[in-house]
Amino acid sequence: MAAFIIEMTKLPFVIVLVISILTFLKADELGELKRSSMTLYFQDYFGGNNATMKPVTFSGDAWSFKQFGTIFCTDDPITVTMDQGSAQVGRAQGIYVTSALDGSNTHVLISVVFTNDEFGGSTLEVQGTSKQFERVREVAVVGGTGRFRLARGYVTFETVHIDLSLSYSIIEGNFTIWHY
Ligand SMILES: *[C@@H]1O[C@H](CO)[C@@H](O)[C@H](O)[C@H]1NC(C)=O
Ligand SMILES: *[C@@H]1O[C@H](CO)[C@@H](O)[C@H](O)[C@H]1NC(C)=O
Repeated sequence: MAAFIIEMTKLPFVIVLVISILTFLKADELGELKRSSMTLYFQDYFGGNNATMKPVTFSGDAWSFKQFGTIFCTDDPITVTMDQGSAQVGRAQGIYVTSALDGSNTHVLISVVFTNDEFGGSTLEVQGTSKQFERVREVAVVGGTGRFRLARGYVTFETVHIDLSLSYSIIEGNFTIWHY
């Protein structure tokens, strides 16, 4: 009985110790949760010799943005302004798959791979369905690495320029993320 009373009186100290260790680990490994917003521009060449987005075709299958099952591989340069000559911050690398039978939605699986001084070596992972023919498409940001560890949030995409003769478009992405 005496031993039990001693253990009970120690309990608050044990709890305080455990909480301090957890707090220390959290602060040490992850830092503070931060909110960041950024607007980035994807320079997208969807045809021609220097295409940065290409359909993945199997034995000459017909493909189109509207054709269910069409897969596109992409490696778009990402710039800080609409001007394609402006500073490049990274690349949008990944795939899109037309995922709705009627062609209206594409599934986006893209890594924003930063290469600039500020965020080089860090990534943001964009994943989700996109109503590809709507003016503004919202897709989830489901993760990140480096400066964006445990990122979560969303991005809205809007095609702000298109030139069919050059198979060239500029897509504005407004990112809102919480990360450590
Ligand atoms: C592709 O890039 C090369 C080298 O930069 C350039 O000379 C050529 O005009 C480009 N072709 C197209 C179709 O944009
Ligand atoms: C994205 O951000 C830009 C720059 O702040 C703004 O002009 C534009 O309206 C935003 N687009 C959307 C769809 O919210």
